[in-house]
Amino acid sequence: WIAPILLIIFGCVVLNLLLSAFAELRNAVEEVLSSLTERGTTILLMSKDCDTPGIQGFSAQVEEASDTPIPRSLRSHLTFKSPAVYIYTSGTTGLPKAAVLNQNRLLSALAVLSSNGITSKDIFYLNLPLYHTAGFIVGFIGCIETGSTIILKKKFSASQFWDDCRKHNVTVIQYIGEVMRYLCSTPKKDNDKEHKVRLAIGNGIRAEVWREFLNRFGNIQIREFYASTEGNVGFVNYVGKIGAVGRVNFFYRKLFPYTLVKYDTERDEPVRDANGLCVKALKGETGLLVSKITDIAPFLGYVQNEEQNERKRLRNVLKKGDLYFNTGDLLKIDHDNFIYFQDRVGDTFRWKGENVATTEVSDILTLSGCLQEANVYGVQVPGHEGRIGMAAATLKKDVKFDGRRMYQHVVSYLPSYARPRFIRIQDAMEVTGTFKQMKVKLMEQGFNPGSIQDPLYILDDRAESYMLLTAEIYKSIMSGSIKL
Ligand SMILES: *[C@@H]1O[C@H](CO)[C@@H](O)[C@H](O)[C@H]1NC(C)=O
Repeated sequence: WIAPILLIIFGCVVLNLLLSAFAELRNAVEEVLSSLTERGTTILLMSKDCDTPGIQGFSAQVEEASDTPIPRSLRSHLTFKSPAVYIYTSGTTGLPKAAVLNQNRLLSALAVLSSNGITSKDIFYLNLPLYHTAGFIVGFIGCIETGSTIILKKKFSASQFWDDCRKHNVTVIQYIGEVMRYLCSTPKKDNDKEHKVRLAIGNGIRAEVWREFLNRFGNIQIREFYASTEGNVGFVNYVGKIGAVGRVNFFYRKLFPYTLVKYDTERDEPVRDANGLCVKALKGETGLLVSKITDIAPFLGYVQNEEQNERKRLRNVLKKGDLYFNTGDLLKIDHDNFIYFQDRVGDTFRWKGENVATTEVSDILTLSGCLQEANVYGVQVPGHEGRIGMAAATLKKDVKFDGRRMYQHVVSYLPSYARPRFIRIQDAMEVTGTFKQMKVKLMEQGFNPGSIQDPLYILDDRAESYMLLTAEIYKSIMSGSIKL
């Protein structure tokens, strides 16, 4: 699994490639050191010095560095189109891919904070991973632009959250949906409303959590937005309409023509009419968000990955020969023009704030020794955002399912959020005419041993094995007494 490393390019002319890493990533960098130095990459470690040849300590220079602005000559060759950062994203399929963000995209993403009225007087509590666009660009770089103070928390902690906010007089917090739910499910306290937080900005909060959050923690403005690292369209809900990610804005839509088109989730592709064009979704109807690729809304794509780039392009959408970016997200626009996020399509689902690429998980499962084929998808569990991983699989001929061995395999190759929690053993795999695995029916059937005849297993961390999923375990999951 790729280590969360940010490749920061300061323009190849001046510094060549420059990789700066934090001390805990040192081992991961050392593993690939020779190939990096071969390519002439300069590697800096955020520590005073470093005894590994080829890696230089960096923090002493940072402390000594002048705080006057960087000379113009060093950045005079940069344009809006120059690459600014690569962000690794699991995207819709396959291995993590390096999405290119150019200077222009960086500037528009960091404007999220200033356009929401955040100023240098604000104190911003940041506890999201800095290897994602949200934490790094919207939050971190956004604060550099507004001049706000950042309280940087290494890891989100629901129990320390409000004490941190009180201690540092935090005025703005950044969230993903899961964070808000975790905060709401902590035990109630008398001082829940004692803090200075005036605004929460982020994405993925569910309507019922939103209401509960306001009830519990007082009058905090919530600014929910929609965006993706590699996408060319984004929305912000400025008015605080509960559940929405934004509202249709005439001028924005003129500049960035986007539309929702009807989507066939079983076939996993947009619905096409007799002329081969997509069909616009009606108001109130869920559809796939697509956004026209233009000069001001370019699709920058992934680095050296033309195949994946082509997958994100959609042609012949409203007219023959037109070209759109396929967000892979299903949204809905209501009769008052509010926009709601619904789901992600196809090969990715979200769990604990991370995208899980099902094809990758399925590849790893089939390397375990006992599985012939594995079809990976996400299933919904009451009280949780997103979907938890499940696999429907067939066994190799004359092989028994070995829960312990499967557990060892899954734990060594997959991060915890991507591990299938449930495995369903089938006699045969259902595929479409083009050999695509069918997921929708399986997703709907879920993991109820009362209605599914096939053997079902559940990943049990304490037993370090996949155990038979009994009706009793199922009941405890549904009632929330087993936490997933
Ligand atoms: C927070 O604000 C209070 C009063 O407004 C002030 O006394 C205190 O020093 C502040 N704390 C920090 C860490 O700035």
